Amino acid sequence: MEGLEQVTPALLLSVGAAVMGSLQFGYNTGVINAPQKILENFYNETWSWRFSEPISQPTLTALWSLSVAIFPVGGMLGSFSVGLFANRFGRKNSMLGANILAMLSAMLMGFSQLAGSFEMLIVGRFIVGVFCGLCTGFVPMYVEEISPTSLRGALGTLHQLGVVLGILLAQILGIEWLLGSSSLWPLLLSFTVLPALLQCSVLPFCPESPRYLFINCSQESEAHEVLVKLRGTEEVGEDLQEMREESQRMQRETSVSILELVRSAHYRQPLIVAVLLQLSQQLSGINAVFYYSTGIFERAGVSQPVYATIGAGVVNTAFTVISVFVVERVGRRPLHLIGLMGMAVSAVFLTVAMALTDQLRWMSYISIAAIFSFVAFFEIGPGPIPWFIVAELFSQGPRPSAIAVAGFSNWSANFLVGMCFQYIEQLCGPYVFIIFTVLLLGFFVFTYFKVPETKGRTFDEISEGFRRSGARGADKYSAAEEFNTLHGDDPDL
Ligand SMILES: *[C@@H]1O[C@H](CO)[C@@H](O)[C@H](O)[C@H]1NC(C)=O
Repeated sequence: MEGLEQVTPALLLSVGAAVMGSLQFGYNTGVINAPQKILENFYNETWSWRFSEPISQPTLTALWSLSVAIFPVGGMLGSFSVGLFANRFGRKNSMLGANILAMLSAMLMGFSQLAGSFEMLIVGRFIVGVFCGLCTGFVPMYVEEISPTSLRGALGTLHQLGVVLGILLAQILGIEWLLGSSSLWPLLLSFTVLPALLQCSVLPFCPESPRYLFINCSQESEAHEVLVKLRGTEEVGEDLQEMREESQRMQRETSVSILELVRSAHYRQPLIVAVLLQLSQQLSGINAVFYYSTGIFERAGVSQPVYATIGAGVVNTAFTVISVFVVERVGRRPLHLIGLMGMAVSAVFLTVAMALTDQLRWMSYISIAAIFSFVAFFEIGPGPIPWFIVAELFSQGPRPSAIAVAGFSNWSANFLVGMCFQYIEQLCGPYVFIIFTVLLLGFFVFTYFKVPETKGRTFDEISEGFRRSGARGADKYSAAEEFNTLHGDDPDL
């Protein structure tokens, strides 16, 4: 990989500590699915013990939906607050402080059985949702800001790797003979405290983001010191010069609030790109596939669907690793486009296979293959890229607010798919994935015409690209012309 000599121990340690947050995000996303039956029993028992009658099915369904859906609600709140903390306390201290929430929620969920209170579990899910919302902002921001330009994409993808490893870990620990049993589930839910403790013990030895020190705090010598440590060389003049230029331009536009960001015509184009990329991730139907997978694996005659789901988790992880290594070579745009198109094609295969599975039993195996390839294509582009490209599309001033708005869109879409999928599925049956195919093709067209390549360009060059195309927006330019403006200078495309 180009620029591999720039991977210093200090850089690796800092990125590693940061993605402990991503790991917790993935873990808490995946942890609640496997032990659903056991947790519902706990709700039922608690209810019977309290009111001396068993819980009714509708009440149980409502309580369970609440336990699942309150997580993205917390996520929306957390992601919206990112800018509030990241600018005031710095990137590193914000990540450190957020772990209080992780520990609090682990305690609430871990002791809920002992206390005989499912309310504690639900409140714990909400708090850990807020924590994960903060993480989805802090981690990509910190990683992008400490990484050298040539490694930003590869290291940014590590956030997604942390997420999928967290999901895989939750799937494995959720097996009944590990922690997914009626006596050990409190440990399963509070396991998140371990990565939290690990992060808290390593982060104090990691530096604050040099961009934050230089541009937000005007601490030039501290920024210089941190850069020397991160880059492993005294020659950090180029980095510093870039920050100095950005800092000078920031004299007028210091930090940009969310309201200013949304209102300003200047940021409109990158903001639309950022939000639509987030939507392309969630509305691709990836979470719907994870709901569907167990049912499909069952119909395919797999005796242990849990292990097939873990198989999907392994595919998920493997392709994220591949993405880490190709994102700096191939670039963001081509990978996102390939990913979206691959998912659309897989979704068509999945629809056909699901529709014919009653007549032809072997179609179930096509379903499995389609699901695996759907997941694989997701991790090639739409999984990792939206998280870190937002940090690349904006300069230091508007970055925290932009990440907050993008994160909020992501979590809202996450919530929407989680809540609505079951109802739409009842309406459309096996044809539900046609909807996702249409959405995926729509996002493909949007990405083709509107999303610039950010690989190997400084934050400054990227926002300059938008500024140029924005200035030309007054006269009617065609999308293709704008495309050329943004990409013409990139010989790799
Ligand atoms: C709750 O538990 C009781 C007793 O074990 C059982 O009969 C009932 O079916 C359970 N209710 C639900 C909704 O699962």
